[in-house]
Amino acid sequence: MSDHTLARPAAAAAPGDPAARPWWRDAVIYQVYVRSFAAGPGQPAVAGAGNLAGVRSRLRYLADLGVDAVWFNPWYPSPMADAGYDVADYRAIEPSFGTLDEAEKLIAEAHELGIRIILDVVPNHGSDAQPWFTAALAAAPGSPERDRFIFRPGRGPDGDRPPNNWESEFGGPAWTRVPGPGGEPGEWYLHLFTPEQPDFNWGNADVRAEFEDVLRFWFDRGVDGFRIDSAVLLAKDPAMADFDPDAGVHPFVDRDEVHAVYRAWRSIADGYPGDRVLIGEVWLPDVERTTRYLHPGELQTVFNFDFLRCPWDAAELRQVIEATLASHTRVDAPATWVLSNHDVIRNVTRYGRADTSFDRPGYRIGEPTDLVLGTRRARAAALLSLSLPGTAYIYQGEELGLWEVEDLADEDRQDPMWQRSGRQHLGRDGCRVPLPWSGRRPPFGFTDGEAPTWLPQPSSWAGLTVEAESADPASMLSLYRYALQVRHAQPAFTVDSFAWRPAPAEVLCFRRGADVTVMINLSDRPVELPTHEEILAASQPVIRGGSLPPDTGVWLRTRPR
Ligand code: BGC
Repeated sequence: MSDHTLARPAAAAAPGDPAARPWWRDAVIYQVYVRSFAAGPGQPAVAGAGNLAGVRSRLRYLADLGVDAVWFNPWYPSPMADAGYDVADYRAIEPSFGTLDEAEKLIAEAHELGIRIILDVVPNHGSDAQPWFTAALAAAPGSPERDRFIFRPGRGPDGDRPPNNWESEFGGPAWTRVPGPGGEPGEWYLHLFTPEQPDFNWGNADVRAEFEDVLRFWFDRGVDGFRIDSAVLLAKDPAMADFDPDAGVHPFVDRDEVHAVYRAWRSIADGYPGDRVLIGEVWLPDVERTTRYLHPGELQTVFNFDFLRCPWDAAELRQVIEATLASHTRVDAPATWVLSNHDVIRNVTRYGRADTSFDRPGYRIGEPTDLVLGTRRARAAALLSLSLPGTAYIYQGEELGLWEVEDLADEDRQDPMWQRSGRQHLGRDGCRVPLPWSGRRPPFGFTDGEAPTWLPQPSSWAGLTVEAESADPASMLSLYRYALQVRHAQPAFTVDSFAWRPAPAEVLCFRRGADVTVMINLSDRPVELPTHEEILAASQPVIRGGSLPPDTGVWLRTRPR
């Protein structure tokens, strides 16, 4: 156990003082996907994958980038049936990543650099390698061991049909049958994802107590918050009714009972000093239902998937920004702005297509893509997402302008979506390829030596390494570093105030605080800049005489209102 304090702590301040504002209201949070971030120097990378030693060796990079916190995808022991979202032990570290001792050192070192740590907690399901599940399989139907999961007899005279019609998110039925005590076919268990990810029964007191204890375990080690995986799926219809799209209440998505779980979690978080945060992966079509998770005493923030899936279109972005700010203001929660993550196509690729709307990665692989245009738009999108009121997320590699790797060989693909969809859905591997750090050839400094990375890197990333981009003031990395410096230095970015300014239909223009104006030109012609005193940041050079080129964003200091 350790009692870490941040080198850049949220100052204790009088109520009403901006310094009293909790850090998570306007933090920039960087998402680290450990397998693909960096391998530690001098250590052989297990199967070309990253590890905690790699993260520790690159903490200075994150501090120099200027992020306030890091969210780690699951770092727990896992058979990796779903890249770590099949957790075998919630209180330990995946052996190929390192040890608990290293994790504690990492937390302390990050705190010394002023970087907070957010872990991913996966409460909907565990791994079939978890001791509880092994015990459940060995125990009889109706036993307390089985009650921690969702076991049911099958339908039909022989019980050989799944208990209901629910489908796995990755394709196929959400139920798998297990042998009975004498080896004969027995009960079925529920898994909303792969069969290796059995769902927990949140009606069971052991499950609730276990996760509360897991939160305390990591809070005691100085962790500053949790991203809650699949946060809306925990509560299931006890009757296990068939899913009926016309029925009012969904049998497992966003059921009212789930809120009690998060109220209990919030009181645990609030029992610790230093503004610990709970962030929900709440992916729902209904804004009102989404913001229920942000009611007082529940989660502090949720991911903004409407923004993430929005096409590169001014009217649609304006509508999403307005709806987000209105709904979040009503519950006094900060909005979040996310352009990509480990589950979706990289935004450079999406923005480079004729249809820039969001799609699950893999469905439209190989569509004609203009990466120069996509990169140009991604630069403008960075200045948009980093200038809106609330928290901004950066998925590792976004700051380098990495694109989706669409031409992985079939045998290299590892995402369970690929196999479970009968190889119809290429899956999420293309956004999970290890980062390029230095040098001219793969593995681009990701590992010592020449060993290939677990997903092969394209040799065309030679110009996108951290080393190459650090030397180029016009690179995506230089833009992110600069924009984050400006964001931290300008008080206008850490207040809630936001007001649209008049602008042509295909242009977004708004004021932040008293004296900053943001303009993003999504049209195909230059647009005149408003009167300003100084250009604070621009995603492309502004045209002499004062107009903003197409697909360009700018931050201006304007005269105080
Ligand atoms: C995570 C995915 C994961 C799934 C199952 C998601 O929301 O972000 O990567 O496959 O949950 O845990």
